[in-house]
Amino acid sequence: MSNQDTNTGFSHEKIETNNFLMIVLILVVVAFGGLVEIVPLFFQKSTTEPIKGLEPYSAVQLAGRDIYIREGCYNCHSQMIRPFRAETLRYGHYSVAGEFVYDHPFQWGSKRTGPDLHRVGGKYSDEWQRIHLINPRDLVPESIMPAYPWLETNKVDASSLAPNMRALRAVGVPYTDAQISSAAEEAKGVSELDAVIAYLQVLGTHLK
Ligand code: HEC
Repeated sequence: MSNQDTNTGFSHEKIETNNFLMIVLILVVVAFGGLVEIVPLFFQKSTTEPIKGLEPYSAVQLAGRDIYIREGCYNCHSQMIRPFRAETLRYGHYSVAGEFVYDHPFQWGSKRTGPDLHRVGGKYSDEWQRIHLINPRDLVPESIMPAYPWLETNKVDASSLAPNMRALRAVGVPYTDAQISSAAEEAKGVSELDAVIAYLQVLGTHLK
């Protein structure tokens, strides 16, 4: 024991020779480090405030988003462009947190069997999207994406939209009463295919 150890009354040797103490102290240090990194993000404007011009999804877009989730598109497609040159050259401007403030739950994902879809809005015509969803191989012969022909004949469940929008409003999405009460009417008779396309076409388009 050195003089210094006896002076402080507690030595590193005690920690380093006691497994349990070592584990507990490592957990404390890691937890503290994690909190220091994560907690400020909850209060930082750039991560909590919508970017300028961000709009909540319209009734039809929201219906499309629900179908996107139901069909498991996220199993093959991410919606998060990382800030690297290889990604921004291929997909466009990297994703920023403020673009996802109205997404509950967000669809970032990390699995990329297919391309990232965050900025696919406006990349193709509605007609391209229609043909591609009904049978991807009609446009991309080597595609391994599944075909979704039933989307064309299924109609959107319009009555589910108002409750859905009210729930989203409860977690902070600024839907107006007017938007909620007209939702069922707007989505009435719309095919699931058109709803998914409406959703895809708005993705990533608010960032100017
Ligand atoms: C099994 C994996 C898989 C699933 C599930 C899947 N996709 Fe794809 N998707 C792909 C692949 C691979 C491509 C690239 C080839 C192509 O364009 O077909 C692709 C391409 C796309 C593209 C064109 C993207 C671009 O920038 O060229 C869109 C849009 C798209 N998918 C939408 C969807 C939607 C919507 C769903 C759910 C209804 C879905 N995908 C489900 C694998 C998948």
